[in-house]
Amino acid sequence: MQEENTVGWKKFPHPPEVWIKRQYPQIFNGIHMDDPIKSHPTRAEQLDIIATVITETSSPGDRILDLGCGTGYLEHLLWGMREDLAVTGVDINPDSLASAAKRFAGRSAYHWIAGDLRMVDAITLPHNDYQLVVTCLTFHDLTNGEKQAVIDWASAKLSTGGVFLLLDRIRLVEPTLFALQVALWNRLERIHGFGMRSEGTFNAYEANIAPNNNPARLDDYCVWFKASKMKSQVLHLHGNIVIIAACKE
Ligand SMILES: C[S@@+](CC[C@H](N)C(=O)[O-])C[C@H]1O[C@@H](n2cnc3c(N)ncnc32)[C@H](O)[C@@H]1O
Repeated sequence: MQEENTVGWKKFPHPPEVWIKRQYPQIFNGIHMDDPIKSHPTRAEQLDIIATVITETSSPGDRILDLGCGTGYLEHLLWGMREDLAVTGVDINPDSLASAAKRFAGRSAYHWIAGDLRMVDAITLPHNDYQLVVTCLTFHDLTNGEKQAVIDWASAKLSTGGVFLLLDRIRLVEPTLFALQVALWNRLERIHGFGMRSEGTFNAYEANIAPNNNPARLDDYCVWFKASKMKSQVLHLHGNIVIIAACKE
């Protein structure tokens, strides 16, 4: 029986920790993912969103290019939803590629390509064009100039109407709003049992961003996609982790 509060609204019988877990049982029960790093509570949901979007908008045989594919976790999710897509995964790490190749052995439409996104022109792909390019949690490893070069290169690989999906951290830039982001991180920690970042002040946040960790500002992405003749919009945002969708006109 739901309680009523003083203004007549029904009080929801469970705290967020309970109802979010009920809403996403496949994520919290480890069916889709058990994040071994325990430092990225939004990862499972946002990868699930990307896999769902690809699944619901792709045509049979569509070619997908995954930049920074790692060991093929996104492909594992995708394969569970659609078996008729052709995937090319690119990564700089040969061990990750070997483990992806082993996991997807026998699936001839899946290709695993060694390549450095800092030098995209040196990457040889098995197809000339793609219907979708996706990159998850990789762009912060690149400088801003390298990010723009990858977006340009990927745009050239996309067929007209093709889509670029980007999931990554974005750089927080407003010190006056930082306390609100801290509240989001605290909430995530309460729900998931592990957090994302622990800095209490904007200065500490800036100081702790490692030199090789280079999240871009949301505004920069809008400019870069526009410069690559793509229409972009935020598809999903949880605090400082964004999914941007861009379409080649
Ligand atoms: C945090 S992991 C994400 C892996 C996968 N996309 C996922 O979401 O599970 C980042 C990946 O980017 C790859 N990476 C980093 N810098 C790269 C570069 N310059 N060129 C190609 N891959 C790179 C790493 O090897 C790693 O597999």
